[in-house]
Amino acid sequence: MTSPIRIGLIGTGRIGQVHAATIDRSNDFELTYTCDTFIAGAENIQSLYGGKITDDPEVLLNSGEVDAILVAAPTPTHVGLIERAIDLGLHVLCEKPIDLDIERVDALREKASKAKTLIAIGFNRRFDPGFNQIQARVAAGEIGTLEQLIIISRDPAPAPQEYIHVSGGIFRDMTIHDFDMARFFVPNIVEVSATGTNAFCDYIAEEGDYDSVAVTLRGANNELVTIVNSRHASFGYDQRLEAFGSLGMLTASNLTPTSVQLHTAEAVEVREPYFNFFLERYALSYQNELADFATSIRSGKAINPNYEDGRAALVLANAALESAQTGKAVKL
Ligand SMILES: NC(=O)c1ccc[n+]([C@@H]2O[C@H](COP(=O)([O-])OP(=O)(O)OC[C@H]3O[C@@H](n4cnc5c(N)ncnc54)[C@H](O)[C@@H]3O)[C@@H](O)[C@H]2O)c1
Repeated sequence: MTSPIRIGLIGTGRIGQVHAATIDRSNDFELTYTCDTFIAGAENIQSLYGGKITDDPEVLLNSGEVDAILVAAPTPTHVGLIERAIDLGLHVLCEKPIDLDIERVDALREKASKAKTLIAIGFNRRFDPGFNQIQARVAAGEIGTLEQLIIISRDPAPAPQEYIHVSGGIFRDMTIHDFDMARFFVPNIVEVSATGTNAFCDYIAEEGDYDSVAVTLRGANNELVTIVNSRHASFGYDQRLEAFGSLGMLTASNLTPTSVQLHTAEAVEVREPYFNFFLERYALSYQNELADFATSIRSGKAINPNYEDGRAALVLANAALESAQTGKAVKL
């Protein structure tokens, strides 16, 4: 039996805790080190899953006890930690986005392209079983030529104002996942049109951001991708996808915790609300993402999504913001 890959977790907040639990359930990895500048966060992970802890990323990075790191610390730390991983010969799975500033992403681009170790970017939705299957079936030609892709992504409720203030705006914070999903199906996007409004949230408007946006992307083969985002949805986390092609259509609907339905003379309906947010809705995707990272480390399979994919999603986000602000389509 192959021995587990020793992994260090950096950041133990909302998503870091999910990754720690996922690592613990995985046979591929052993959580040997956890770091959080807020040491109580690391202590909590240690009490649940063991391993050593520190409040200094450099201690973890130089410990000689990790082969890979999982970066779940705030976005401004990502570029620096990816660079340290490259320098120290460690594989890295870094949460999205790489950074909010394309210049910082570009500054590491060449070095990232020459890295001897793997750099995976945490666009977990590619690993959602439903979306992943649709992409594979489209690629296999099951619905003929892909003509249109519709991605609907609505959060249950907006994040607090302090979060919106540093989020980088809806396109870089929220739509970034959908830009990556668009590129999963249509890697080469040549034109971006976007529009945004303030439909319901005063403090998002105060921050100069939109709470509701629609984006149209044109692919190199004239595929049209429509993305619809809202910062709220009264019925929960709204995550749907539709791929429409010359021979048919593939769709993925919202998920509920169980498949129980009420059947009466009046109606047939699901009585449970949808999963409330990403931690529950995308639990399997985080598991599959980690398994894919292990496969690439062990087999040398190309990592996907990689640094270039992370950069490309940010380029689309910036183009969407420009289009929404100028009212003009942006050619790439
Ligand atoms: N893929 C997804 O579904 C998903 C979901 C949520 C967040 N994210 C991304 O994950 C990252 C973290 O988001 P979050 O919501 O978990 O944030 P969070 O604020 O809940 O947690 C961040 C943690 O990192 C710690 N930290 C801060 N600076 C650090 C440093 N220099 N070294 C080590 N630890 C440090 C904080 O103390 C905190 O515990 C962000 O980049 C975010 O965009 C991705």
